[in-house]
Amino acid sequence: MKTAENMMKQFDNVTILNHPLINHKIAMLRSVDTKTKDFRELVEEITMLLTYEAFKDVPTHEVEITTPLTKCKQQMVNENSIAVVPVLRAGLGMVAGVHTLFPTAKVGHIGMYRDEETLEPQEYYCKLPQGIQNMRAIVLDPMLATGGSAAAAIDLLKRKGCKEIRQMSIIAAPEGVEKLATAHPDVKIFVAVLDQKLNENGYILPGLGDAGDRLFGTK
Ligand code: PRP
Ligand code: URA
Repeated sequence: MKTAENMMKQFDNVTILNHPLINHKIAMLRSVDTKTKDFRELVEEITMLLTYEAFKDVPTHEVEITTPLTKCKQQMVNENSIAVVPVLRAGLGMVAGVHTLFPTAKVGHIGMYRDEETLEPQEYYCKLPQGIQNMRAIVLDPMLATGGSAAAAIDLLKRKGCKEIRQMSIIAAPEGVEKLATAHPDVKIFVAVLDQKLNENGYILPGLGDAGDRLFGTK
């Protein structure tokens, strides 16, 4: 039988981290007993680990450093090279995790909600950093469910002139990864874990419920 993870091997733009330290945090994140404060901190920590992987090839330049013993050449990151674009609301919870490792990342915002009946994404806000066309844009959304919101956010960024785009999500359904990887084969997708499937309401199973509500305590 083909597992969801095996099916993903057909997409060379998809990285599923599936790391024991991440899985440990995901277990806590999923639990219905995890309350808002811990949930928010876990999203931040998992995002930090995702950032470590997704930023491996961040543009760098060489500098000369004087240590107490000698001089040496050292690579440092190009500070204005990255913009992260959280999809409101839940993507907001991931921004702090990126900033811990890459404090100068610019932040754009795209407001998107899923119509509860059709599950189609509805855009309601967009504010992007000046010059984003010349930066690597990384879309942040903890949940990649049908993939509709991520695909629409990336469509929008492409319309605005972005040429290099990535997607970072914490939990993905196979349906969402497939949709996004097919619609945007040029976009590298980084996912902490791949779940089993969507339920009839478009929620990821086993998932964690509604990420926005759990992050912001709205339900
Ligand atoms: C959630 C989530 C994603 C979207 C994923 O947002 O944060 O943006 O659903 O689903 P999709 O892959 O099927 O498009 P939601 O619409 O619940 O809005 P919220 O973050 O404001 O709660
Ligand atoms: N959005 C969420 O917050 N959770 C899901 O499972 C699917 C979409």
